[in-house]
Amino acid sequence: MQISFGSPGAIGPGALVLSVQDGGVLSAQAARCDEMTSGALKRAVEVSRFKGQAGRSIEVLAPAGVKSSRIVLAGVGKGEKFDGNAAERLAATVSGRLLASGEETLTFALDPPKRSRISEAEMASHLATGTYLRSYRFDHYRKLGEDEKQTLKTVVIATKAASAARKLWADASAVAEGVFLARDLVNEPPNVLHPEEVAKRSLALKKLGVKVEIFDVPAMQKLGMNALLGVGQGSAFPSRMVVMQWNGAPKRSVKAKNAAGPLAFVGKGVCFDSGGLSLKTGAGMMGMKGDMAGAAAVVGLMHTLAKRKARIDAVGLIGLVENMPDGKAQRPNDIVKTMSGQTIEILNTDAEGRLVLADVLWYAQSRFKPRFMVNLATLTGAILVALGTEHAGLFSNNDDLSKALTRAGVKEHELVWRLPLADAYDRLVKSKIADMKNIGGPNAGSITAAQILQRFVNKVPWAHLDIAGVAWQDSDQKPLAPSWGTGWGVRLLNRLVADSYE
Ligand code: BES
Ligand code: MN
Ligand code: ZN
Repeated sequence: MQISFGSPGAIGPGALVLSVQDGGVLSAQAARCDEMTSGALKRAVEVSRFKGQAGRSIEVLAPAGVKSSRIVLAGVGKGEKFDGNAAERLAATVSGRLLASGEETLTFALDPPKRSRISEAEMASHLATGTYLRSYRFDHYRKLGEDEKQTLKTVVIATKAASAARKLWADASAVAEGVFLARDLVNEPPNVLHPEEVAKRSLALKKLGVKVEIFDVPAMQKLGMNALLGVGQGSAFPSRMVVMQWNGAPKRSVKAKNAAGPLAFVGKGVCFDSGGLSLKTGAGMMGMKGDMAGAAAVVGLMHTLAKRKARIDAVGLIGLVENMPDGKAQRPNDIVKTMSGQTIEILNTDAEGRLVLADVLWYAQSRFKPRFMVNLATLTGAILVALGTEHAGLFSNNDDLSKALTRAGVKEHELVWRLPLADAYDRLVKSKIADMKNIGGPNAGSITAAQILQRFVNKVPWAHLDIAGVAWQDSDQKPLAPSWGTGWGVRLLNRLVADSYE
């Protein structure tokens, strides 16, 4: 799909989107078009229940007097509420309906409503973002029916602020690309996307100037990453760890640079989670190809940061394993020694994400001395019980980082909700025979999992995002995420970097 910005005025062929404010008030451009069509638009609003409500729209097909094949009147609601998210949703909803409609060209000619919370250029860039994110498809593995093929090829956003909008879109499109990459990785089937394949695809970031290192099993054995390796030992696919470095910070003295340290992002990359010997049920295994969504978000984020040449130093680390049961698989009652030296008694092989992260978090903080670490993981089913699919769980040892993440989440509509950590919860993972066990009791499952992670972060400012509820969706619940994998986290963390650290 080709997205461009042009100046308003000329009405070309194809679909044209115009805005209507709350109360059925036509925008300036809509009013002009209404005259050209001898009042067809006003009449359409009069005879329908559509009165410019946000999120709603109506279509007028083949109106006389203009070249457009259809005019979509899109509601922008009350101006005070019209922000970037509203613009993206509007664009996604309207363009989504036209993707395979036969229409090849779509022009947005919206006027920002009065008292709107965003500028003309921002609105234009958000319209592009909403349209682009909605156009995502993952159909490498099936033949499309004739009426399923996307016809929409050209999208023009008509705006008085075209050149400012183009500048914003240069960054925003880099974010959207990162989201697409994350979605692709999550959507790929697990027979294709095993640990080595994720590592191989991460290598593509080299083209953008990212330094990529791949650690194989012997390399991780040497480091003592036995918790991660224990999870992968029952799989026919060997485990990997990938370390990606983007050094975009303006050149400073080496000393100043070392004092600051990079921002570190860590992802759980369980390419398939069968549960291991503590085998999941058939139903419980559904979707477990997506158990690498944390890693996918980190790869997508690194792509975005490099593509838009973010002026920071960042490292992305992903632990890649497949959790399978076989003769070599790890057993309940095994005790593993982590890279940190702490030992973990395995009581349930299905609580494997924390084992992978224990070693990768430890490695990240000891090698890079980061300013902060944020990890993403589809860690617990319990987070779905607590927060459903609207918020990711946030656990942190740092109030400032938590606030910055919460703010970034609201801006990008990738919401997080903080849950507690405390000694009383930490006690629930005490073991009689090792330094800790890998599960707590029946309660507070997301918190006890987070407590285990915290034992491997060594006082570095750190946040853990439990994304089990938001990483994928079964139906098209969210207008911006048409596919199963949502790519959740790329936007949030890019915003965190841009607003608080760049
Ligand atoms: N990958 C799962 C968590 C998960 C569940 C993600 C559902 C998405 C949807 C994780 O490895 C897991 O199996 N967790 C167990 C932990 C339990 C054994 C303590 C869980 O949540 O049941
Ligand atoms: Mn599991
Ligand atoms: Zn898992």
